[in-house]
Amino acid sequence: MNLKKSFLAGLALAMAAGTLISTSAQAQKDWPTKSIQLVVPFAAGGPTDSIARLIAVPMGQALGQTVVVENVNGAGGTIASTKVARAAPDGYTIYIHHMGMATANALYDKLPYDPMTSFEYIGQVADVPMVLLGKKDLPANNFKELEAYIKANGAKVTMANAGPGAVSQLCGLLFQSRLGVKLTNIPYKGTGPALTDLLGGQVDLLCDQTTQTIPYILDGRIKAYGTTTMKRLPAIPNVPTLNEQGMKGFEVKVWHGVYAPKGTPQPILDKINAALKKALNSPDVKKRLEDANIDIVPASKINAKALKDHLESEINVWGPVIRKANIPD
Ligand code: MLT
Repeated sequence: MNLKKSFLAGLALAMAAGTLISTSAQAQKDWPTKSIQLVVPFAAGGPTDSIARLIAVPMGQALGQTVVVENVNGAGGTIASTKVARAAPDGYTIYIHHMGMATANALYDKLPYDPMTSFEYIGQVADVPMVLLGKKDLPANNFKELEAYIKANGAKVTMANAGPGAVSQLCGLLFQSRLGVKLTNIPYKGTGPALTDLLGGQVDLLCDQTTQTIPYILDGRIKAYGTTTMKRLPAIPNVPTLNEQGMKGFEVKVWHGVYAPKGTPQPILDKINAALKKALNSPDVKKRLEDANIDIVPASKINAKALKDHLESEINVWGPVIRKANIPD
């Protein structure tokens, strides 16, 4: 009797598990049946948000469901990374983040997630150059004058960033470390609001990506003192690189990747990957990125292995640089 009972109970369990497995397999096959959330770790209106919104539309078209951007701001992107690492691995939460995924490790004592084990990797997206910017009425008109101005004014000079883990913070503090000065660093929830304050003259300096900044540089609403690239940028050829102005080897190119929570089933990851490839191949997306001098990665890099390998190598590159530059201050 007891044996029979336990056999029946076991059978019921096995059937339930079978149903679960087949439902899950069916769900993977049918995915997506509702909208997908694309988490962005910085404020709306900033560079990461812009790239996310640019790819969200064609990705949604490829998948047959809307891809909705959700901004989860704060702590240089680590709040969003934690949220995604803990989200249900069902394909309805995906994530775009830049190289902050690699630098946060060296900036925070203990992260609630591990960039190398808490996520599934979908593919790289684009590499974005940065520019050292100043407010319009800053007296310095070029890099040399900026150096002199900073040396004369020290901590009276303010520099905006998007918090520890943000590339604007990394770039700004590398710049200060090279100059041997400490400015007053002002954190924002993203460089979208930081750029608004730079345009309004409330803050003196900001190192930001080219995604939104080129039109303001061209029309003189902000000053550009140098790019973080080895070659000058075609859209702003009169702006010298920081490298050619004495900051030898000063190079920061902001790479981006798309992720999902660990355990997201492979068939779903494959569909997201195909949609991402399609989005990055769309003429509208290409044009918008090219106009901002952003490099779309080649198709060979839009895959899990390339993204994971790149992330690992970037953790190894930036860890020593950050520690040597004594960031955060
Ligand atoms: C943003 O989207 O606001 C930026 O990517 C933040 C940053 O500087 O990392």
